Amino acid sequence: VSQVSVPTAPMGWASWNSFASKIDYDVIKAQVDAFVAAGLPAAGYKYINIDEGWWQGTRDSAGNITVDTSEWPGGMSAIADYIHSKGLKAGIYTDAGANGCGYYYPTGRPAAANTGSEGHYAQDMLQFSEWGFDFVKVDWCGGDAEGLDAATTYKSISSAVATAAATTGRPLTLSICNWGYQNTWNWATGLAPMWRTSTDIYYYGGTASQSAVLSNFDQTLHPAAQHTGYYNDPDMLTVGMSGLTAAQNRTHMALWAISGAPLLAGNDLTTMTSETAAILKNSDVVAVDQDARGLQGVKVAEDTTGLQVYSKVLAGTGNRAVVLLNRTSSAANITARWSDLGLTSASATVRDLWAQSNLGSYATSYTASVPAGGSVMLKVSGGTEASSTSYSATSTGKYT
Ligand code: GLA
Repeated sequence: VSQVSVPTAPMGWASWNSFASKIDYDVIKAQVDAFVAAGLPAAGYKYINIDEGWWQGTRDSAGNITVDTSEWPGGMSAIADYIHSKGLKAGIYTDAGANGCGYYYPTGRPAAANTGSEGHYAQDMLQFSEWGFDFVKVDWCGGDAEGLDAATTYKSISSAVATAAATTGRPLTLSICNWGYQNTWNWATGLAPMWRTSTDIYYYGGTASQSAVLSNFDQTLHPAAQHTGYYNDPDMLTVGMSGLTAAQNRTHMALWAISGAPLLAGNDLTTMTSETAAILKNSDVVAVDQDARGLQGVKVAEDTTGLQVYSKVLAGTGNRAVVLLNRTSSAANITARWSDLGLTSASATVRDLWAQSNLGSYATSYTASVPAGGSVMLKVSGGTEASSTSYSATSTGKYT
């Protein structure tokens, strides 16, 4: 199966967290306009992804999807065209089974039956590509309910995606969304550039929470599966949504960036604060996420339970991104030791990525006071690589 690869994890915005199935042309257009006005494209964000709720499950006699043109005037190609007119890429959604998630779990997200692509993989993927979509998220509620085998099913879907893209000449990026069931990371590489590793970070009508952020982060760490072009997906961002403080938003963004995760904002961009925009757009943090080496960060130290050091090997020589994460309820000092980062004791420069300021040179380690429940994000540059370290990630985390 030849699958379109993306060099770095996709960045953009997705409709699900803030709108669930309450989407139509006007809702998406308003988000596109706010996305552009907020300067997200210049920061690297480019996908506008329409999630579940766009389709009522109807097909014509030839099996082609029919769209409610009172909600989507001009059909789905009109909104894809609008997204493209801003220089952006357009994403759409379906399910691997007969029915989408809103059919099985209607609370807050009622969706009609038959909003899945089972039996129509080739036809639907070609349709999405002909409409102009560049990205398709394929969910698993129907597949799960029917007891389909995930690896086999997504292999067929990946093949249909590749064929559709070859037919239209428009790259189509597949996003696998089976929440890590059946150990997605063991079989998804090569079928799609991104695959979900856990259940949802947020349920419509609830509030965003740091515990969901930390839980999805913990579940996304499969460093042995991740390399340039293939990314574990801890779910859309809840940065800027009700329930998270500014410090928690920064921790959320830092953890997604150090894991090299897709960065799909999920907040309502029409009401985004400048503080949230600054968090999403911080160029140092985004650069960690998009680092060309494509590795996932790993936990390299936890001397005291809950005081954790994560490190991501970056492109170049002797460069690391570091997150000092305090999961305890008291402020504490956390130390990044060069030896834990795979560097020898020699001068390296430390930069505070949120403040975007250099902190100076350090010979063996750097210690910061980290607030309770908070984090500090650093870049360590120009260190000396310990010769014994090869940076093949192991399934348990540390690079060997
Ligand atoms: C599942 C997915 C979510 C979202 C919803 C839509 O829960 O995991 O990301 O797409 O379905 O109903």
